[in-house]
Amino acid sequence: KLKIVTIGGGSSYTPELIDGFIKRYDELPVTDYYLLDIEEGKEKLEIVGKLAQRMVKEAGIPMNIHLSLDRAEALKDADFVTTQLRVGFLDARINDEKIPLKYGVLGQETTGPGGFMKAQRTIPVLLDICRDMEKYCPDAWLINFTNPAGIVTEAITRHSNIKSIGICSGANSMLMDIAKAYEVEKKDVYARIMGLNHLIFADQIFIKGEDYTDDFMAKLAQGSASNSLKNIPDIGFSSRFAKALHMYPISYLKYFFLTREMVEAAQIDASTKGTRGEQTREIEHRLFELYQDEHLSHKPKELEKRGGAWYSDTACSIISSIFNDKKEIHVVNTVNNGATPDLPDHVTLETNAVIDRNGAHPLAYGRLPVKIRGLIQSVKAYEELTVEAAVTGDYSTALMALTINPLVPSATLAEKILDEYLEVNQRYLPQY
Ligand code: G6P
Ligand code: MN
Repeated sequence: KLKIVTIGGGSSYTPELIDGFIKRYDELPVTDYYLLDIEEGKEKLEIVGKLAQRMVKEAGIPMNIHLSLDRAEALKDADFVTTQLRVGFLDARINDEKIPLKYGVLGQETTGPGGFMKAQRTIPVLLDICRDMEKYCPDAWLINFTNPAGIVTEAITRHSNIKSIGICSGANSMLMDIAKAYEVEKKDVYARIMGLNHLIFADQIFIKGEDYTDDFMAKLAQGSASNSLKNIPDIGFSSRFAKALHMYPISYLKYFFLTREMVEAAQIDASTKGTRGEQTREIEHRLFELYQDEHLSHKPKELEKRGGAWYSDTACSIISSIFNDKKEIHVVNTVNNGATPDLPDHVTLETNAVIDRNGAHPLAYGRLPVKIRGLIQSVKAYEELTVEAAVTGDYSTALMALTINPLVPSATLAEKILDEYLEVNQRYLPQY
């Protein structure tokens, strides 16, 4: 018996996950798969749940897919719990994006103030889930994809006893980009990756064990390789800058190193095609139309338009590595524990780690390169205060968190953004 629960089971991403579990059924024979959602998500859960049932049937796999609105029932004796929920649904994301943009500050769901706000709504819910897990499945693993994944994972590791790993599709997309550039398979690529969630860098790149770091950095500088996530405006670095950086960053780094251009791009998008949240609402709408088609019994191509495309590769292979004690290396969000002495030991970072039945063991990295050290440390300090604010609901902590975020240019703006945020999010903020 192997029981998996996905919280936020009604998400449009669910077919991505089911597809991943179907592909890996031989090594990960899931007997019971619970898709759990809340009352407001019931309609979506029904639609996507039925598609999931058709998918396993079509694949001829004896996996029982259960749809549930009852958290206790779903969690009882689970082995793995994955979370992909969005408190307040896409409407809340769109508020997160639009409010800072009015003040010329980046409005994005995880980077900048948007990530702060999303954390304030999400952390109380995730900690509540952890309390229930402590009751109903204390030994289960929590694999958290809920954004801001790094910050949420830090809250879980600091404020609960549940074993958890935070995941993101970003590193996988970087590895896929490298594999594509050399026409090799992803398993032939090793990248030394370090940083924070949505703020990672690869500073060494190996193809079939050979060092291609300089070669790949040259490709980046020439513009013949890049990390392009679907959800991020496609503005490139100049070749001189790429050469100076000499690291392969996740696309999200552009928010920090091309701040002005990226805010402008976000503002233009907002007034023409809509914010990413608004665009996503349309993609989702189309996805759910497709999902309702009773002849559809596989993951549709349209899902690749989402930023988290291929996220099941990350989620399912990590779960398999735990379940099968594989000791594979994956990029995950986990506690630093000395991997770099340039960050406190207890904070979470995103880095390569050996994954076995006891969880994630980060590889030692050592000192962070000076050129990115300050940014990573500042963002981490902002993240630590963000967790503290989400747990305590303390206004001063929240204001300091936003103010020290490198993307917020002044305390006055931080205050304005925070006040508007708190007002429109009131119903999701029991702690304030
Ligand atoms: C990326 C990130 C995810 C994020 C997603 C957004 O791949 O890794 O953390 O949720 O994109 O995609 P969306 O289609 O919702 O804008
Ligand atoms: Mn992510």
